[in-house]
Amino acid sequence: RDHVITAKNLSRADIETVLDRAAAIERDPPDRDRHAGRLLGLCFFEPSTRTRMSFEAAIKRLGGDALDMGPVDSSSATKGESLADTVRVIEGYADALVLRHPSEGAATMASEFVDVPLLNAGDGAGQHPTQTLLDLYTMRENAGGLADLTVGIMGDLKYGRTVHSLAYALTKFDASQHFVSPESLRLPRSVRYDLHEAGAQVREHDDLDEVLSELDVLYVTRIQRERFPDENEYRAVAGEYRIDAETLERARDECIVMHPLPRVDEIAPAVDATEHAHYFEQAHNGVPVRMALLDLLLDDTDGEEAADATDDS
Ligand code: CP
Repeated sequence: RDHVITAKNLSRADIETVLDRAAAIERDPPDRDRHAGRLLGLCFFEPSTRTRMSFEAAIKRLGGDALDMGPVDSSSATKGESLADTVRVIEGYADALVLRHPSEGAATMASEFVDVPLLNAGDGAGQHPTQTLLDLYTMRENAGGLADLTVGIMGDLKYGRTVHSLAYALTKFDASQHFVSPESLRLPRSVRYDLHEAGAQVREHDDLDEVLSELDVLYVTRIQRERFPDENEYRAVAGEYRIDAETLERARDECIVMHPLPRVDEIAPAVDATEHAHYFEQAHNGVPVRMALLDLLLDDTDGEEAADATDDS
């Protein structure tokens, strides 16, 4: 089964297939009944605006519909139902599942219990591979392609699942990756090990100015208060690594600024009006990219259903 759990398992060809399909969808939107009758189960055990709504928009624009589990506190998880049982039940109602969960590894575990495609929409501080696909799409459209980019990734590198997925994917496109963070929020050891094993070009910095003038892309992330086990640890780093319009005077004119959003205060609102800002476009790209991904996955299951029907006859 084609689950989408981690960017580590997406090849360069896989990524290019999705991005090419997304570009084709933007140029020539598919028929509104392309996947009529198909249902996408949305299982969000953590808050979301962009991921949940863009998946819902994507399946609806393909002619299908979304089945939303709703808030966790109105689901049977509150009665003690396990994640494994929850996804096993919901797979009987839907053709594919989208799962967001606060525990790292939850999507891997859940995928072992279902036969429909399961898409990881964020597992704690682990991975967020569909975010990476739309991040790469945004870079490809605005930074002159994906080959040999110099990318700065700044903020919460320790708990940032968008960062972990993006770092794996950028390695497949031979990017130079510059990680900018306080010492306490450096990349996790496991991710550093994987990047090293994959031959990634990686440097770490305390100060954005060490690298800002070289960057094609500056990817800013939020310091995620909800992930810190200790509020004092959060307070010690909150408010560091903000950028404003003055910061970007030291960047190349072509440098694009991205952020997976939501932002708190790491990008000053004055940046929004500059040519550098691409984070709202990035969020909007979630729809064509998730349409492309669902289109590919549902096409595959269409084929299987046709084969099953033939076998039965
Ligand atoms: N970027 C992202 O995952 O946003 P949401 O948390 O709003 O889904």
